[in-house]
Amino acid sequence: MDYFIYKNDELWVEDVPLARIAKQHGTPAYVYSRATLERHYRAYDNALQNHPHLVCYAVKANSNLAVLDVLARLGAGFDIVSAGELERVIRAGGNPAKVVFSGVGKQPWEMRRALEVGVRCFNVESDIELDRLNAIAGELGVKAPVSLRVNPDVDAGTHPYISTGLKENKFGIDIEVAPAVYARAASLPNLDVRGVDCHIGSQLTTLAPFLDALDRVLALVDNLAEQGVEIKHLDLGGGLGVTYNDETPPQPGEYVEAILARLGDRKLELILEPGRSIAANAGVLLTRVEFLKCTEHRNFAIIDAAMNDLIRPALYGAWQAIVPVAPHNKGDEKAWDLVGPVCETGDFLGKDRQLSLSAGDLLAVRSAGAYGFVMSSNYNTRNRPPELMVDGDQVHVVRRRETLEEQLAPESSLPL
Ligand code: LLP
Repeated sequence: MDYFIYKNDELWVEDVPLARIAKQHGTPAYVYSRATLERHYRAYDNALQNHPHLVCYAVKANSNLAVLDVLARLGAGFDIVSAGELERVIRAGGNPAKVVFSGVGKQPWEMRRALEVGVRCFNVESDIELDRLNAIAGELGVKAPVSLRVNPDVDAGTHPYISTGLKENKFGIDIEVAPAVYARAASLPNLDVRGVDCHIGSQLTTLAPFLDALDRVLALVDNLAEQGVEIKHLDLGGGLGVTYNDETPPQPGEYVEAILARLGDRKLELILEPGRSIAANAGVLLTRVEFLKCTEHRNFAIIDAAMNDLIRPALYGAWQAIVPVAPHNKGDEKAWDLVGPVCETGDFLGKDRQLSLSAGDLLAVRSAGAYGFVMSSNYNTRNRPPELMVDGDQVHVVRRRETLEEQLAPESSLPL
């Protein structure tokens, strides 16, 4: 459930009409709903209230400081994959002691910084990463808390680019060899083995792959206990899908219930790293139709947002709903390709959409709150759009529209 709702045939976000936002702030623009972010975070937190847990929002999904701030105020933890994301969390008021640090290629300086601020845990993805972390913790005279990210070899049944739990993927440590790697980790003097971690992919729409992975991870936990390695927490990563079109992913409550049922009486704290399921449907990309260009073969609506603003359709062939802000001439719909001004045939946000359109119309690309702005670029020297956070009847500019000056500032010409 989200707070982008039609009232009197006009699309609103919370208590503000999107048309008013477009008038005041221009297009294209990302618009987020605070109430939606809060609702989605609480769906996890409430479902877990009777079990020791930490919901670590995956910062990569949407790392705007205001988004992190909203979640930090609710007590969220954060899953980060770079020192840059760590600084964002700290800047937004997040607690480093609730941060888990994931990623296959952590740099020494990133590990150092994370140890200095006291992150909750490092999700270590390889044998050699253990050595690097052990050495740096030794230099600082601290013990690094670690969890090994295991690869349980299950098919997440999602897009190959966002599937991560198969043996052929670069992520994690093969679950078969994990006991040996745990034994090594436990023998290294500057590491403190705390947990097991796994993340099998993103936009999963059924529970089965999660539960297959969980069964394998629990077998590993039991096996480690026999080996004398006590695991205190289980981090199951993110990955729960959202409704972009007609998908019916499990709700966070259902997912959590299924996990808890399988834990039995094991004393394991549960960590989750949801990104998309918190942020995606808490945001839209607001855009305006510039021109309608109908050819013998296709009807193109050329809009002011492009692949540089939202890359998912071009990159993954992702489908996101595109809806009119003020629907008109119903019954007069035809199939439109919504394309941007970028010089590439792959520059589309939607194809074959049944819409009734006129030049100047406003459209909202739904489900754009996750992996939207964060994956934007300056391709074609386009300024990145602003990000706005709606809170009730208030609209806050949480990132202003970029200017050409800002884009060009880091560059210089050659000396004469
Ligand atoms: N934890 C780890 C270790 C991850 O790699 C990811 C996402 C998450 C948590 C959060 O997963 P989520 O709950 O959002 O599914 N750009 C792609 C998605 C890439 C996901 C990468 N990892 C997209 O736009 O579909």
